[in-house]
Amino acid sequence: MTGSEPAQDVLLHMRGISKRFGGVQALDGVDFDLRAGEVHIVVGENGAGKSTLMKILSGVHQADAGQIVLGGAQAQIHSPIDALRLGVAIVYQEFALAPALTVAENIFLGSEPLRFRPGIIDYRTMNAEAAKLLDRLNCAVAPTDIVESLGTAQMQLVEIAKALAFKSRILILDEPTAALSEGEIGHLFEVIQQLKGQGVSIVYISHRLEEFEHIGDRITVLRNGQKIETLTMAEAGIDRLVRSMAGRDVKELFPKQPADIGEPILRVAGLTVGSRLVDASFELRAGEILGIAGLVGAGRTTLCRALFGLEKLDRGRVYLRGKDVTGHAPRECIESGFGFVPEDRKGQGLALNLTLRHNVALPSLPRISSPFGVNTAAERALAQEQVKRMSIMASSIEQAAGELSGGNQQKVVLAKWFAANSHVMILDEPARGVDVGAKAEIFRIISESAREGRGVLMVSSYLPEILGMADRVLVLFRGRIAADLAIEGLTQERIIHVASVGSEREESAA
Ligand SMILES: Nc1ncnc2c1ncn2[C@@H]1O[C@H](COP(=O)(O)OP(=O)(O)OP(=O)(O)O)[C@@H](O)[C@H]1O
Ligand SMILES: [Mg+2]
Repeated sequence: MTGSEPAQDVLLHMRGISKRFGGVQALDGVDFDLRAGEVHIVVGENGAGKSTLMKILSGVHQADAGQIVLGGAQAQIHSPIDALRLGVAIVYQEFALAPALTVAENIFLGSEPLRFRPGIIDYRTMNAEAAKLLDRLNCAVAPTDIVESLGTAQMQLVEIAKALAFKSRILILDEPTAALSEGEIGHLFEVIQQLKGQGVSIVYISHRLEEFEHIGDRITVLRNGQKIETLTMAEAGIDRLVRSMAGRDVKELFPKQPADIGEPILRVAGLTVGSRLVDASFELRAGEILGIAGLVGAGRTTLCRALFGLEKLDRGRVYLRGKDVTGHAPRECIESGFGFVPEDRKGQGLALNLTLRHNVALPSLPRISSPFGVNTAAERALAQEQVKRMSIMASSIEQAAGELSGGNQQKVVLAKWFAANSHVMILDEPARGVDVGAKAEIFRIISESAREGRGVLMVSSYLPEILGMADRVLVLFRGRIAADLAIEGLTQERIIHVASVGSEREESAA
């Protein structure tokens, strides 16, 4: 007779966890348990309480009620340091690295190995230890690289290395794949399997329902601060999860409506930014959604930023509705009719300490201001309308943008530009970090704005989004436009092929 399987050993119990922020009950009596060596997925709509629950476990927030039992003992977690001492480490939804420091300095920030006497850092030991951790993650960056110079995927591995530096038993990953391309996601999954093999238990928060079956053991659904259910992977089909998360059926994920494709409204000729973007030429028509695909680093974000006046151009011209806007600064670009949703909402998309109202109204200020100042009634109406249209979850339009959940922050960034009546929308990963219900909503709004005659340029690392929404797809490869593909009959495989080798598959001589 065998006893219970080792996989059933419960390492962590969270019992009756509640947390309130002002008027918002973020968590309401949530139970959660984690077994030794399991990957436990946590899902739920934006604002459901996922990050809050994990921030309580990692000592960032204190619960109002409830208890945490770790390894059989009652745990007192009052600060992130307490959590680290107990072996609990978290990689946040938004990165928290110091950009000007080296990789090794970031990994050991605050716990640098010292030499001879306090205050003198032993760089040799630190770099060697960092190299070991990076090696464990098959990460090709050097301990002495400056973090600023890394790509998003590499930064994320550095974050994980940092978490592992404390010999963690529990690793929490809050939306780890949001910023990664397909290949990098595969690599992350290998790392997760490896860590699991080394006995690390992993909590994994994500909105990408398709990816769980590859890595998850169990899955817990939160809705409105409450735990709805915990399922095994076998029980958890996508339909069931969506219903459980939303509490209702979600209609079509890509509600794209046919739009009349009109005259070209954006013409780009020979646009070049160093070697990051080389000789990019294309047209975008009114009513058209142009998908931009390519691997991370292929030049997608550079293209978006170059159009919006955020990169120094070496060559090329940009015409918006016939007007030469080459080299215009962002402010002029907005006036000429560009809207821009950047990849990095925390850094560029939002003023986190300003209210939701201020953020939404920002690009519309010229329209709702007079020589006497901003028309605050119009500003309020604008913000109110967008909150309703995008179902933004906030206590009021006066709440600071930084207090909203990650996905709701993303909606505010989109709302800004939908409110601003722009002619060409540049969207860099518009649905990143957004839950299924809100995603469908965002895509509906994108489709609607194309029908209203806008041109939309949409970057996404997630090919079903491109295939579901675009009329045409540009595939970038090492800074160049490698293919301009019509959507009819287009497959993921064909895009991936061009994105990875830079050209269409040769017709093999049979
Ligand atoms: N520091 C804070 N101050 C005020 N309210 C907060 C704070 N942090 C979270 N909240 C609120 O608590 C609720 C739960 O937020 P949480 O960030 O846990 O959601 P989430 O499930 O992680 O969502 P997402 O998928 O968008 O990341 C939200 O209504 C959010 O606005
Ligand atoms: Mg979150």
